[in-house]
Amino acid sequence: HSRWPGLIAAYRDRLAGAADWEPVTLFEGGTPLVPAPRLSQLTGCEVYLKVEGANPTGSFKDRGMTMAMTDAKYRGQQAVLCASTGNTSASAAAYATRAGMTCAVLIPQGKIAMGKLAQAVMLGAKVIQVEGNFDDCLELARKVTSDFPSIGLVNSVNPARIEGQKTASFEICDVLGRAPDVHALPVGNAGNITAYWRGYREYRADGVTETLPRMLGVQAAGAAPLVNGAPVSHPETIATAIRIGAPASWNGAVAAKEESGGAFRAATDEEILHAYRLVAAEEGVFVEPASAASVAGVLAAHAEGWLEPGQTVVCTVTGNGLKDPDTALLGMPEVQAIQVDPVAVAARLELA
Ligand code: F0G
Repeated sequence: HSRWPGLIAAYRDRLAGAADWEPVTLFEGGTPLVPAPRLSQLTGCEVYLKVEGANPTGSFKDRGMTMAMTDAKYRGQQAVLCASTGNTSASAAAYATRAGMTCAVLIPQGKIAMGKLAQAVMLGAKVIQVEGNFDDCLELARKVTSDFPSIGLVNSVNPARIEGQKTASFEICDVLGRAPDVHALPVGNAGNITAYWRGYREYRADGVTETLPRMLGVQAAGAAPLVNGAPVSHPETIATAIRIGAPASWNGAVAAKEESGGAFRAATDEEILHAYRLVAAEEGVFVEPASAASVAGVLAAHAEGWLEPGQTVVCTVTGNGLKDPDTALLGMPEVQAIQVDPVAVAARLELA
């Protein structure tokens, strides 16, 4: 029983450029594929959650960041920059620290979850708030890194990011012994759905698996450019991680959907919050709101008859619930503390 070596070491032969790398790693990847009995019961399918919040900085971004930061190291870069709705910045900050590099992050002012901001600050990133949304931040990051080529861009427009993130598909197939029938995931900038689809295709092309899943990409209704077929200039959603109106990997997402016979769906904030609470209260898995979009999408797809009974369905839950405590506590009534007294506990529990 040896310990998980991190995803570059685990899948080195399948990662472009990584053959001789000494990785910048926090031992990311190897995340649990957790059976979801309640969702299985609700849908008549065999549903699993790919719990990406179990990565070192609490989101799937670490898969891409170990690759992007190792690549940056071998290119001799001293500094990296990203635009972020929060998770990319937390991950970039952590991996830059491991690589001994400077990290700067551009974030939409007032629109990132508190846990993510705390991470970026603690991990030593130069945090720059921008009067604009994620799309403005990404455009700005592209311009800065093009004017100052010594600074590496570590958004998912960096090909090493997508390459690393595809390993989640490998892990899922390795555990199931086959590809799932349906794979659902939240879609913002669309790098992750592009990466998963690449991973599934590569395993199939090499004969590791025999089939491909239908890809279900779920966007927040107020930020659903791929569903609408046009960019959204003022994206809005409670799921701040996917508050994105002009996805950089637009073509990758469309290819994943079309080649797989999949679909894009929009989930309203109400549907996202319902799924968010359901996964926590009934599956015991606390994810951040954006992550619950995949689950909301699966429930809606089931209601429409899009899923066939008995199919194997994997939902990627992309980030840890601790990232966004404010949304978790939204609308919670303030309850008075009790005396240090067993009778008071029993009374509160209505046992007496
Ligand atoms: N879920 C979470 C928790 C995310 O943080 C993101 C993206 C997504 C889903 C969507 O993934 O962009 O590959 O389609 N977060 C980026 C960030 C934008 O800056 O942290 P995508």
